[in-house]
Amino acid sequence: MNKIIVYYSLEGNTEYVADKLSDAIGAGKLRLIPEKAYVDKGFAKFIWGGKSAVMAEKPKLKPYALDTDFEEIIIGFPVWAANIAPPIRTFVYENKELLKGKRISAFACQGGSGAEKAFGKLRSLLEIDDFYSTAVFIDPKDRQSEENKVRLDTFIKKLKEND
Ligand SMILES: Cc1cc2nc3c(=O)[nH]c(=O)nc-3n(C[C@H](O)[C@H](O)[C@H](O)COP(=O)(O)O)c2cc1C
Repeated sequence: MNKIIVYYSLEGNTEYVADKLSDAIGAGKLRLIPEKAYVDKGFAKFIWGGKSAVMAEKPKLKPYALDTDFEEIIIGFPVWAANIAPPIRTFVYENKELLKGKRISAFACQGGSGAEKAFGKLRSLLEIDDFYSTAVFIDPKDRQSEENKVRLDTFIKKLKEND
């Protein structure tokens, strides 16, 4: 199956997983970049990003080239205030028709908790009952652990099934 990984990453953890996944399953990658960058330093990043997540904003994205010839998409995001990071919402709105009928998986990076709630929000946005597969990582770049490694291996195995 032709696969694509679409993700947003503020501080590199989601990108770290996207890179590993892309190598392992041979999928293309698209990193979403908001036109107005979110603050990535100090406490301000939690204020601005958290507010944007709570308000369910759809920030304008820098122009991106999406290769539409895919059957399967894997959406990756950092959890913000127990929600998806807002650039993912923009992407879903902009590509709603294209995403219909595709096999959709998702992965989330978080510091503590909220991923399951965020997956629920993403399911509603996509109007699907469930994902093909999901995975949750705890700051996988900044806090390397055996647990993150096992989760990544399990996710890769599932994504490679039925190829
Ligand atoms: C604005 C903001 C809100 C966050 N909210 C949560 C949260 O609700 N739950 C959580 O476990 N981590 C939260 N985090 C931590 C990130 O989800 C976590 O560090 C993630 O691995 C970062 O991914 P990235 O490096 O790809 O941006 C938040 C981080 C930011 C910047």
